[in-house]
Amino acid sequence: MNNISDFLVIGSGAAGLSYALKVAQHGKVTLITKSTLEESNTQYAQGGIAAVTNNADSFEKHVADTLLCGAGICNEDVVRMVVKEAPAQIQQLIDWGAQFDKSADGSFDLAREGGHSEHRILHNKDSSGAEIERALTAAVRAHQNIEIREHCFAIDLITQHHLGQMVRRYHTNIDCYGAYVVDLKTNKVETFLSKNTVVATGGIGNVYHTTTNPPVATGDGIAMVYRAKGVVENMAYVQFHPTALYIGNERPSFLITEAMRGFGGILRTQDGNELMNKYDPRGSLAPRDVVARAIDNEMKLRGDDFVYLDVTHKSASEIEKHFPMIYQKCISLGIDITKQMIPVAPATHFICGGIRVNPNGQSSIAHLYAIGEASCTGLHGANRLASNSLLEAVVYAHKAAQDTLHNLRRVSIRTDIPDWDYEGTSYPEEMVLITQNYKEVQQIMSYYVGIVRSNLRLARAFNRLGIIYKETEALYRRSTLTQSLCELRNLIQIGYLIIKEAMALRESRGLHYSIDFPPK
Ligand code: FAD
Ligand code: SIN
Repeated sequence: MNNISDFLVIGSGAAGLSYALKVAQHGKVTLITKSTLEESNTQYAQGGIAAVTNNADSFEKHVADTLLCGAGICNEDVVRMVVKEAPAQIQQLIDWGAQFDKSADGSFDLAREGGHSEHRILHNKDSSGAEIERALTAAVRAHQNIEIREHCFAIDLITQHHLGQMVRRYHTNIDCYGAYVVDLKTNKVETFLSKNTVVATGGIGNVYHTTTNPPVATGDGIAMVYRAKGVVENMAYVQFHPTALYIGNERPSFLITEAMRGFGGILRTQDGNELMNKYDPRGSLAPRDVVARAIDNEMKLRGDDFVYLDVTHKSASEIEKHFPMIYQKCISLGIDITKQMIPVAPATHFICGGIRVNPNGQSSIAHLYAIGEASCTGLHGANRLASNSLLEAVVYAHKAAQDTLHNLRRVSIRTDIPDWDYEGTSYPEEMVLITQNYKEVQQIMSYYVGIVRSNLRLARAFNRLGIIYKETEALYRRSTLTQSLCELRNLIQIGYLIIKEAMALRESRGLHYSIDFPPK
């Protein structure tokens, strides 16, 4: 049986949830998500959301900081649009119930993060994402027009390809009719048909071994759109967060928010010396690419696995007040951050590239939108400014909602779509074929396609990934679907896109740094 809706939303982070809420009074929304409603990158966001909310700051300053961080390839019109739209969309979050910390005078208690020239980050202590997710999930659960399907995994987008027609990338006549989705509780593949399909599937962190992203971040949406012959771009620009807590093999890595450096935290090498001064005049508050590379370099020079973030010189009560979650997490590991330095190392955090969209979130495929981290809007360029990502998610949810509502009456639902074809498949005989390849992909990407790259390392990664690709495609063709097999396939696709685009770059820029093309 087909599931039919006006709006099919894939993903339940800040982007998908806000989009669903914006359109729900105009038609039926089906919201599918592969884990629980809350599980998402959004849930773990700490620092907050950037917006100009006081007179000391200005749109021009926020625009300039974003452009500078983006290293020359942001779309300036998009940057201006997002920065100007920010206050209205923050107000919308507040209207939906999200709370941001305030000072005694009633104004927002604004934090500062790397690359920002002003204090402009709205936050809820150090659990800003969880607060936004709490408010949005509550509003979505309360809305009668939104059907929530948890533990449902989108496998592939449906286009003319599934009607036996040829589709080609960069051709404008591809149309999206919905998605094939496996219900993970029944293992049945269902057909979801919709007037508009919205990919809000978030990031790709798990393509690397060490990441701040939860396990759901496997680049599924980007891979699906690429398979459907949509346009994907800027994938070489993978952001590594400089300060993930270093405690061995914890996955995902627990983040130590950049706001801690905005609060006065200082990065130190293991001998206690200040680390950043010799790398950048902005010191510990330089943009992320600069700080992550500096830490990477010091760790390699010294043979160390981590460096330290030091807040011991700050007031203990202020530390506990502003960073209660981090304080508790570290206490649980025997580290009192008011007295001891925090061991940190870089971890994969965010993908600046993704599904190419226009200023309304429309992808290169008709009736297919992409919003949030899965998309490439032009806001981030070659490096994202801290706390601009939640902002992008809510602004583009708004833009895409406006666009889909504007066009709703002109779209009809296509119902002649074939059911998913199970023929000739059986359950994979050995799960190790999947789990081992998953680990190998992460190792290849971490060792050869990390913070610092070279032609040789990229070529080696490309060849190694090619072998795993062939093995996995063969397994996929003869296997009944499992979540892990689909995710492995998607991660290989993501790794391929990152490597391919990195190999094509003949320069170092922003997050892509190659020793063969050092910055001029
Ligand atoms: P997500 O919030 O990741 O949601 C994606 C959703 O899609 C999830 O529900 C997932 O389960 C679902 N999904 C994925 N694939 C499928 C599939 N195949 N089928 C069905 N469902 C699927 N940004 C900031 O601006 N400020 C911060 O302070 C900040 N801190 C961060 C801290 C951490 C630890 C992390 C990991 C990220 C942080 N970021 C921050 C980045 C920011 O959180 C994300 O970029 C943003 O939340 C992305 O929102 P989203 O809605 O696009 O995706
Ligand atoms: C952080 O709190 O350091 C993360 C902020 C971000 O990723 O924008």
